[in-house]
Order: sequence, then C-alpha cells, then structure tokens
Amino acid sequence: MSGRNEGKTILITGGGGFLGARLAELILAKDPKAAILLTDIDRSPRVDALAGRVEFIRADISDPGICRDLVGPHTGTVYHLASLVSGGAEKDFEAGLRANLFATIHLLEACRLRAEKPVFVFTSSIATFGGRNLPDEVDDYTYQHPQNSYGAAKVAGEQLLNDYSRKGFLDGRGVRLPAIIVRDVANTALSGYASNMIREPLAGKDYLCPVGEEMRIPLMGIATATRLLHALGTMDGALLGDYRSLNGRGISPSAGEIAAAVAACAPPERPLGSIAFRRDPEVERVVAAWPRVMHGKRAEALGLPGDRGIEAVIREYLAGLG
Ligand SMILES: NC(=O)c1ccc[n+]([C@@H]2O[C@H](COP(=O)([O-])OP(=O)(O)OC[C@H]3O[C@@H](n4cnc5c(N)ncnc54)[C@H](O)[C@@H]3O)[C@@H](O)[C@H]2O)c1
Repeated sequence: MSGRNEGKTILITGGGGFLGARLAELILAKDPKAAILLTDIDRSPRVDALAGRVEFIRADISDPGICRDLVGPHTGTVYHLASLVSGGAEKDFEAGLRANLFATIHLLEACRLRAEKPVFVFTSSIATFGGRNLPDEVDDYTYQHPQNSYGAAKVAGEQLLNDYSRKGFLDGRGVRLPAIIVRDVANTALSGYASNMIREPLAGKDYLCPVGEEMRIPLMGIATATRLLHALGTMDGALLGDYRSLNGRGISPSAGEIAAAVAACAPPERPLGSIAFRRDPEVERVVAAWPRVMHGKRAEALGLPGDRGIEAVIREYLAGLG
C-alpha cells in the first residue's frame, strides 16, 4: 500500500466474485491487518471463506445512495470489479446497463463526493475491442469498437476513469483483462470454455468444448490477474499519464493447445476426463469476433505481471487444488 493510503479502507466491489475474493486473499497475505470491505449483490461461498478477516456488505451498487454509503472519507482504494459479464449483459440489456454502466458512474461519483482522492482500479475487458476492421492482434492503442453491450459499458468506464483522474477527483488505473482462467465456478462469460476445459477434465469429468480446436483467445491465469490488480492499486498512478487504462498481458494458446497442455500436466494419480470438440455456432460467433492476441507493452514496460505459458498456469491451478 502506498504511503498516502496506509491504514485506509480498501473497498472491493464484486467481492464475492472470482477475482474479488482472490484479490482480498492476496491483500491479506501481504498485510493481515489490511482493512478490507467486500461488497456484492450476493454472498458467495468465496466470501464465507474470508469470514472474520474482511467486512462484507451485501448491496446492489447500481443504487447511487448505496455507493455513497459504501465509500467513506477513509476509503483509500477502490477495486471496482462488480459486473454482469458478456453473456449476461447480452441477454438482459437493462441489467447489463445497471451493473456495468450505472454502477460505475455511481461509484465514481461517490468517490468524487466523499473520499479524499482515492485510488480507483477499474477492470475493463478485451471485449472492448471488436468491429469489422478489428486486427487479429491488438495493442494498448488499438481503437475500441465493441460489438456487445458489456464492452460498450466498459469503454465508457475507461473514458470516465480518464476524466475523473484528469479532474483530480481520484487516481484511476484501468486494465483490459483477457479471459481469466481457471474459473472455480462457471459464470455467464462466453470465454468460459477455456476454464472449463481445464477444470472439468482435471476433476475427472469429460468435457465437450463448444469451439473448434484452432480457436485462440487471449488468456491470463488468476494468480497473475490478482497480482496485476494489486500492482495497479499500489503503483504510482502518474506513470499512466493521461491514458489510464492499459492492456493486460495475455497468452493465446489455441483450444487444441490447451487440451494438449491439460494432458501433459495431469498428475498420473488423478483420473483425467476426456475433451471432445463440438462447435456451438452461437458461442463461436461471439468469441470469433474477439482479438486472437492481446499485446500488453505498456504493462510490460511498467513491470506489471504476465504469464509464462499455458502449462505454467495449469500447474499453478493444480498446486492450488492441493
Ligand atoms: N474473469 C474474466 O475472465 C474477466 C475478463 C475480462 C474482464 N473481467 C472483469 O473483471 C471483473 C471481475 O470479474 P470476475 O471474473 O470476478 O466476475 P464475477 O462474475 O465472478 O464477479 C462479479 C461480481 O459482481 C457482482 N455484481 C454484479 N452486479 C452487481 C451489482 N449491481 N451490485 C453489486 N455486485 C454486483 C456479482 O454478484 C459477482 O459476484 C469484472 O468487472 C469483469 O468485467 C473479467
């Protein structure tokens, strides 16, 4: 924690989610006395696992009053992770707007009105890239033209983060995350196959992959993603200049390469489920519209964490299973 924010509260929205709970664990591992307030619309078993070590408030942050209650004068850092991810926001436009746009605006406003220039970490997404002229490989400065409502809300969030930082209301840092693996529980993200094809076979279950073997999307391991969020929250924000969001450093194994890596990493004593491929046109249509490769040169230049390869991520996952 930077000196300015020492002893202040760390607010994590979406704290019951995949990244939020893991981030809280990482912060506590570094500083067991850290004052962490987790908030989420649902209390998940991930929050139960943190009981006694964090404060938890169940709340819907698409309500501006709730955001003002959650952010106080002692809020030093906000990690804003709450979101209704890609598939969910496509199915329910209004719910997506509430979770992905209104909640971000209300939280930024609460920070402007109530806290003393907090650090604000925003999780944007690879889903902000898209459109007919999308190159196969994107970098930090590729223009963003999302083809889904989730991505559109994230672009708006990135721009607001720039503007609130420019005005000096807060100290914003944003990252466009690739798909994070290996999810413990499936959510509505259409990139979920990359997690499922690792988690399920290693749990001894057969898995039917909804995309072809050649499909490639940028990925990042959960351990690296949480270290990245923490690094963003504790670095000198001025290093980001006037463009506060950068690309995460993705790795891009094909679905076939992930399957091969699962087979190569599986411990012999563990029953291993099979992986078969059957294309689901709906999933392929959305996933094929994302970039194949995501370069994170700004993150690299700043020394922010990145993965070494898919096998390393799978071995890390297996180590976590014990
Ligand atoms: N996991 C990924 O692959 C990935 C990739 C790119 C970007 N991101 C971004 O990273 C962040 C965290 O992702 P995650 O994988 O932990 O997602 P997640 O779905 O596991 O968790 C998000 C949490 O937000 C909560 N939430 C949704 N609407 C809410 C509301 N109105 N009020 C309060 N809480 C609400 C949900 O209950 C959920 O627990 C999100 O902003 C997501 O868009 C994630």
